[in-house]
Amino acid sequence: MTTTTANTANTANTADAAEAGTGGGTGAGGAAPAGERRTGTDSLITRCRTHLSKGRASLGEMFGGDVEASSSGAWIHTASGRRILNCGGYGVFLMGARHPRVLAEVERQLATNPVATRLLLEPTVVEAAEALVSVTPDGLSKVHFACGGAEAVEAAIKLARAQGRRHLVSTVNGYHGKTMGALSVTGKDTFQDPFRPLLAGVSQVPYGDAGALEGVLARHEDEACVLVEPVQGEAGVIVPPDGYLREVAQLCRRYGALFVLDEIQTGLGRLGHWWGADREGVVPDMLLVGKGLSGGIVPVSALVASPEVFRPFDRDPFIHTSTFSGNPLAMAAAKGAVAALREDELVARAAELGPELRAGIEDTAREVLGDRVREVRGVGLLIGVEFTVPGLAGDLLLELLGAGVLGNHSLNSSGVMRLTPPAVLTAGDVEFLLDAFEYACRAVLD
Ligand SMILES: Cc1ncc(COP(=O)(O)O)c(C=O)c1O
Repeated sequence: MTTTTANTANTANTADAAEAGTGGGTGAGGAAPAGERRTGTDSLITRCRTHLSKGRASLGEMFGGDVEASSSGAWIHTASGRRILNCGGYGVFLMGARHPRVLAEVERQLATNPVATRLLLEPTVVEAAEALVSVTPDGLSKVHFACGGAEAVEAAIKLARAQGRRHLVSTVNGYHGKTMGALSVTGKDTFQDPFRPLLAGVSQVPYGDAGALEGVLARHEDEACVLVEPVQGEAGVIVPPDGYLREVAQLCRRYGALFVLDEIQTGLGRLGHWWGADREGVVPDMLLVGKGLSGGIVPVSALVASPEVFRPFDRDPFIHTSTFSGNPLAMAAAKGAVAALREDELVARAAELGPELRAGIEDTAREVLGDRVREVRGVGLLIGVEFTVPGLAGDLLLELLGAGVLGNHSLNSSGVMRLTPPAVLTAGDVEFLLDAFEYACRAVLD
């Protein structure tokens, strides 16, 4: 990796961006001397290797040993004084880091009642549910809160089972998380094989193929539950054919299946719509939300369902519980996140920014990398660049980081680099991103 040039580019831009008022000042009061910096990083890597995971430590090392120290808006600040534009974070940061609206809600809650007893009534969880339901498709009015995305998936699987829908149908390369139930519907052998046996009664159908889905549903009438993403994120930003979700919804109705739309990555504006469901005007039986609901501050996820589908959880509040489900601190974040998205009109902003960025990225990728690029695709601010050459996605990710932009790899598709930029990018940030992308494309050819 050509770190020297890249760091120079980043430093130069740091000044520009600070001047442009992007809220991303270096915050370091000058970088630490190189020797100290290295020693600190080495020690952190060693401690990470000793007490966390060797693999995790190696990953940090491979990504240049940068240490995250703080974050603000679209920018991450490292302990060594670098600033990195955050177009990664696996889709969490649509509103950037530490959005003031979310921060204010969370700070207020922290100072009053961060974790509740769970027996007395508590208002924040009700307010968060109301806020979420105010933006979900009509008819979905019941909420179960959890912490991580996979927990929301578990809740959906249990809710389906409690109503006799014991046959799960998911899609090839689909991603729903890694707890045992969620892993059973995550379509990737690499993640599943070490943990078999998983849940019995799971079928996988090719994504985007309504005919294949119908084949399975016809064999499992009134006993299936279908889990689908509106755009497959971890599979490498796979956009289904127009009308696919409508067909899935119709098939579920025809064959008495429950329809779970996993919008953990795509929801809350990432696609330039509040929900992927809105792009096709469908209303699933259950909608799963995560990532962005945290406001990038406190992890929280949710299952939102119709009252009819939610009935088993309605009847018995102890049938599916978790100590920190609906904790007030997370609820304050969720409330703040919905408010921030609305007040700053970030969904419309994502719709506007997405095509502009995608076009800029595609032009550069094609011009510089030619037929090494298979496709640049995406919806809103979920953008994937697929390469024809093995290893190029990883190389580009490293060069991009060297140039001061963090992207994502794709868990279920090694050939695709994903960008999940925040909707709060300024014009200067967009320019920085596109310049860094061009720099990285040229660098991988060296
Ligand atoms: C569509 C989808 N569902 C579920 C999950 C799992 O969420 P978590 O990693 O928070 O458990 C993810 C995570 O990337 C996801 O993209």
